[in-house]
Amino acid sequence: MPEKGRYRGKTVGVFLGGESSEREVSLRTGAAAAAALRRLGYPAREIDLRGGWLDGIRNSGVDVAFLALHGRFGEDGCIQGALELARIPYTGSGVAASALSMSKVLAKRVAASAGVPVAPDVLYEGSPPDAPPPPDLGFPFVVKPDREGSTVGISIVRGPEDWGPALSEAGKFDRRVLVEAYIPGREITVGILNGRVLPAIEIVPKSGSGFYDYTSKYTAGQTEYVIPVPMDRDILVRAAEYTRKASAALSLRGAARLDYRVDPAGNVFFLEANTIPGMTETSLLPKAAKFDGMSFDDLVEEILDDAGLGK
Ligand SMILES: Nc1ncnc2c1ncn2[C@@H]1O[C@H](COP(=O)(O)OP(=O)(O)O)[C@@H](O)[C@H]1O
Ligand SMILES: [Mg+2]
Repeated sequence: MPEKGRYRGKTVGVFLGGESSEREVSLRTGAAAAAALRRLGYPAREIDLRGGWLDGIRNSGVDVAFLALHGRFGEDGCIQGALELARIPYTGSGVAASALSMSKVLAKRVAASAGVPVAPDVLYEGSPPDAPPPPDLGFPFVVKPDREGSTVGISIVRGPEDWGPALSEAGKFDRRVLVEAYIPGREITVGILNGRVLPAIEIVPKSGSGFYDYTSKYTAGQTEYVIPVPMDRDILVRAAEYTRKASAALSLRGAARLDYRVDPAGNVFFLEANTIPGMTETSLLPKAAKFDGMSFDDLVEEILDDAGLGK
């Protein structure tokens, strides 16, 4: 546990916005974090990084960076590297952990090496739009850009006719496209805060398809979030253990949230790790922390307490 309140009196820059497809979500996360920091008595300054990132960092004049960015440049190790160079301590995971987690395929390889089950997959790199589908996965399967978020560019391929459009859609966002076996069943997400696993939350999109797509994620009332999760205890214990193992293997720091599918037999499959999870007051990680008895402001301060360099 980091020392509580170690940045008291310091100017905190809340870095938010950015240029990724998750800019809007990041603006909300950043505004909520900045409001919490001010309530806690920190002089907090919101810094919207849009174009001229290096100048934005250099001219920020802050003592410590609270990262509220999502996606490309914010969550993938780039800003972490820039802050290392500028010697500004920052919250969350370091350069390598961020870069690894941003790539779904690399994160899966690292998690699998730590004994965490993952869905079988095939990686398409810079593939032509008429590349044939993987022969061994069977339908349905899932096609996703390797380094995106918010379900942007993801399709479920239910038959051969869906393959071409799915590959070209994912290819708009990344030249690396991950094709993964579809895991039927339910979906849970598990947060971890400075090494402590938080209670799982079940995600139940009301669309009925079970696909937690962009609309389900960001339209009020479109998804039910269930905590505590009505699932066998041993499944949840396993998910917690996978969260601990995958987070350690990826070297995650601060707050992170890992997404899983749970098949009808109760097998849990790791999908991906979010190293800067959404942090509005109604986001999932704050919800899990709250269920554990931790207020939003305390959560924000605990993330700040762990800010540092060279991690
Ligand atoms: N292998 C899979 N089987 C079933 N559903 C999946 C699978 N992969 C992704 N999904 C669905 O797509 C959503 C987004 O996928 P995820 O890998 O978490 O990427 P993102 O970074 O966009 O959140 C998941 O929450 C889930 O509903
Ligand atoms: Mg996800």
